[in-house]
Amino acid sequence: MKIAVVGAGYVGLVTAACLAELGNDVMCIDKDHGRVALLQAGGVPIYEPGLDDWVQRNQHAGRLRFGTAMAPAVTHAELIFIAVGTPPQEDGSADLQHVLAVAQHIGQHLNGFKVVVNKSTVPVGTARQVERVLHEAQQTRGTCVHEVAVVSNPEFLKEGAAIHDFMHPDRIVIGLPEGATGDRARTLLARLYAPFNRHHERTVWMDVASAELTKYASNAMLAMRISFMNEVALLADAVGADIDAVRRGVGADSRIGPSFLYAGTGYGGSCFPKDTRALAHSAAGHGLRMRLVEATEAVNAAQKQVLVQQVCGRFGGDLRGLRFGIWGLAFKPNTNDMREAPSRTVIAELLARGAELQVHDPVATSEARRALSQDLGRPVAEIDSLRFVDEPLDALLAVDALLVLTEWKCFHHPDFAAMAQHMRAPIIFDGRNLYDPAQLQALGFVYQGIGRRNQAASRARVSPQAETHRRVAHPG
Ligand SMILES: NC(=O)c1ccc[n+]([C@@H]2O[C@H](COP(=O)([O-])OP(=O)(O)OC[C@H]3O[C@@H](n4cnc5c(N)ncnc54)[C@H](O)[C@@H]3O)[C@@H](O)[C@H]2O)c1
Repeated sequence: MKIAVVGAGYVGLVTAACLAELGNDVMCIDKDHGRVALLQAGGVPIYEPGLDDWVQRNQHAGRLRFGTAMAPAVTHAELIFIAVGTPPQEDGSADLQHVLAVAQHIGQHLNGFKVVVNKSTVPVGTARQVERVLHEAQQTRGTCVHEVAVVSNPEFLKEGAAIHDFMHPDRIVIGLPEGATGDRARTLLARLYAPFNRHHERTVWMDVASAELTKYASNAMLAMRISFMNEVALLADAVGADIDAVRRGVGADSRIGPSFLYAGTGYGGSCFPKDTRALAHSAAGHGLRMRLVEATEAVNAAQKQVLVQQVCGRFGGDLRGLRFGIWGLAFKPNTNDMREAPSRTVIAELLARGAELQVHDPVATSEARRALSQDLGRPVAEIDSLRFVDEPLDALLAVDALLVLTEWKCFHHPDFAAMAQHMRAPIIFDGRNLYDPAQLQALGFVYQGIGRRNQAASRARVSPQAETHRRVAHPG
């Protein structure tokens, strides 16, 4: 089938590569000329495992092309996917300017019936708006007005496993407009997604508004599970329970299931934070309050501070003269995405308290440099107290403690003996509950997880070495 995908970010690029892999003829358009030039030259602008192979293979096979011009893509395609960003605005609502700009451009070049498929996460009513913009753009052009079916087909892939998720979807949600255009769209989309439905039907057909709401409700539900477990973890700490045991016990209930029950230092990324806020904002626009969703967001904001509180619990609020290692900057493993990553909050807070930081991430360093320069108001290269290092052990050189912020695989089984030798004091604040408290205690570490019963770090006082170092560095 002939397909256009507008937006070559996480969703657009994965959609384009996967649909090309299935044999479709795909043109992927982005307004970012640098990004397109890189893709045309065989590069991939984002880190997503396996994506470079898929992009290159399909490019070589002639099934996947990249460009910046909308006109050839629109005339080429029978199905046009919109996969551009919908970032949050000040008030929490989704910023639809990119989606509507794309609709406007599509409308200027329509040459017949098309199905416009919205993959961006957008509030209920956006498909209608897109339909209006398409119509107006055609009228302004002064040519005949072609029929368009605007469909909602929200994307549920996870960064880090995006290709797998796209190719093995739990479900494909499709919201169709009413009437004949909806029927024509259904025929085309049923054909496009047939390879995913061979074993059993995965497509859930519905109306457009329900599909748009399904995406937000799904993300809010997942975010809520995480915030719920984070709250239970705080209680676990207070009452002497182990959140990891609780998680396993709770998740074994088939009505609940084990996913998204991990306590940690808070969720981040491009989806949960903005989508929960946008959902609450949508509800407010209809005179409703979604109190569970609001609480989910508030709990998460507080959770991003928990590790800093633990550090201050041990070392005091003034961290001048102390040095910390940080493992993991990306909001989760297998991505270089730094959007709303908890590391940004933790780093800004520790630096503001005077700490010196040595940070390492296996993949997200350049994204992190960009994001942190923005947060801290000046290039990170100018900040002496923030040092990026290439090796995990280098981040531990003479540090007073290690903070683990992302559960990258390479951090799961480190050489604890070598770590202890590098560190000024063997203390770990584990924001992702990677390690076994008992094992680490046996190895001589002071270990503090999130809800892991081990309160040694917060009960203990500053190590004598740290105190000496602090006195030397800050005699006053
Ligand atoms: N990232 C995820 O894991 C994920 C998962 C599911 C849904 N979503 C949703 O999908 C949408 C896209 O997210 P993303 O993470 O892929 O965004 P992204 O920021 O990675 O990519 C968006 C791309 O769109 C391009 N773009 C913006 N305006 C354009 C225009 N007028 N013409 C052509 N290109 C344009 C940008 O240059 C950018 O390359 C969002 O609504 C997001 O909420 C994201």
